[in-house]
Amino acid sequence: MDNSLKVALLGCGTVGSQVARVLLENQRVLQARVGRPLELVGVAVRDAAKPRAGIDPALLTTDAEALVRGGGVDIVIELIGGVEPARSLILAAIESGASVVTANKALLACDGPTIYEAAQAGGVDVYFEAAVAGAIPIIRPLRESLVGDQITSVVGIVNGTTNYILERMANEGADYTDVLADAQRLGYAEADPTADVEGFDAASKAAILSSLAFHTRVTLEDVSREGITGITAEDIAAAKEMGCVIKLLARCSVGEDRSVSVGVHPTMVPLGHPLAGIPGAFNAVFIESRYAGRLMFMGPGAGGSPTASAVMGDVVTAARNRARGTVGPGESAYSHRKINPEGAERSRFYTAMIVEDRPGVLAEVAATFARHDVSIQAVRQDGQGEDAKLGIMTHVAAHADLSAALAELASLGAVKSKIAMMRVEGD
Ligand code: NAP
Ligand code: HSE
Repeated sequence: MDNSLKVALLGCGTVGSQVARVLLENQRVLQARVGRPLELVGVAVRDAAKPRAGIDPALLTTDAEALVRGGGVDIVIELIGGVEPARSLILAAIESGASVVTANKALLACDGPTIYEAAQAGGVDVYFEAAVAGAIPIIRPLRESLVGDQITSVVGIVNGTTNYILERMANEGADYTDVLADAQRLGYAEADPTADVEGFDAASKAAILSSLAFHTRVTLEDVSREGITGITAEDIAAAKEMGCVIKLLARCSVGEDRSVSVGVHPTMVPLGHPLAGIPGAFNAVFIESRYAGRLMFMGPGAGGSPTASAVMGDVVTAARNRARGTVGPGESAYSHRKINPEGAERSRFYTAMIVEDRPGVLAEVAATFARHDVSIQAVRQDGQGEDAKLGIMTHVAAHADLSAALAELASLGAVKSKIAMMRVEGD
């Protein structure tokens, strides 16, 4: 295959094995779409002795660097994950003149610019559609389709594992640990599932999405983050009572002063909201822009085969560019906007606390909220006597004001418990 484009695959796990399958099963179709054959020239893994269905054992190597630097590779697909050795291997690939396709959100959120700059200098492509929201096309719409518009917010469910866990906890009363084990077995979770359940994976994706949407570099460290490990059966029941479900939402938005706020938090979503019904490991992303208005993207957000679809879309695009001697769009980060610290963002909030069941307590609590400029939308009391629980839904308020109100409430004699707090989606 003299005029073939040579493809090296780094990693052959949940996603890599499916990418190899698609690449090998569809050679004629891919050749027709690219205009030249795609030839898999090597597969780097940690353990070359493991059986790999459908892959010629002669292609396997544990020396990823030699594969990348061997010369003549046109496209390197990085599916190892994590920061190192993925970063060094990607930089070596670029140095060797190869274009890169990666699904590695952890790396891009922590050091994407190093890679984008190296690719720009080397005149090669870096594509990363599969890094956010699995099979859903969301990177290309932000990078290309919507690049003539002005995006004001990107909000969504961008982690399949946590969506799957929260749904099963709510619908079946399933145990957190059991459901996490199922998510791992189904190939949704990261190699270290802490990244999923503590919100790091969603925060990495939020950093990538906001960098693209707002043309500003946003890193993982800029994202305020809370995972789902603190969510209790009581929280889930409280959400149900308020006509909501709990979802782990990523929210990226621009303020009136053009500054950017990015956060990932468990959030109560009213049942009528389109995000409330996103099932299992599916993801959904809402984009609001000045000219297009509202757009929603939805589909499988995790798992080997769906993610391989997004990876292969990038491989074909990079291969077409290669065949024509061109490259696609590079990083667009001209805007240098201020990134807000946690507390600057505005949201509705739900708070719950056990209080003394006597006249005047509700007035005391309401006055505390008012002193901090937090307006109450609805109040609900459950139980009585020792068990009087107040659930309070606020109107949209600054997170910093809400926190100050809660700190003051915690010091009131009438408040008898720790105060629970959760964001609520919508106005
Ligand atoms: P995985 O199942 O853990 O597979 C990792 C692969 O990398 C394995 O084949 C492993 O080899 C290989 N590997 C590890 N260290 C290596 C090294 N030093 N040199 C060469 N090979 C090495 O991971 P995955 O779930 O496929 O995820 C891969 C990437 O896709 C990650 O960036 C992840 O965030 C991203 N992603 C995953 C999903 C998903 O649903 N799983 C979805 C979107 C994006 P062995 O097989 O020998 O252990
Ligand atoms: N672990 C990730 C998730 C994989 O559950 O969403 C997709 O990026």
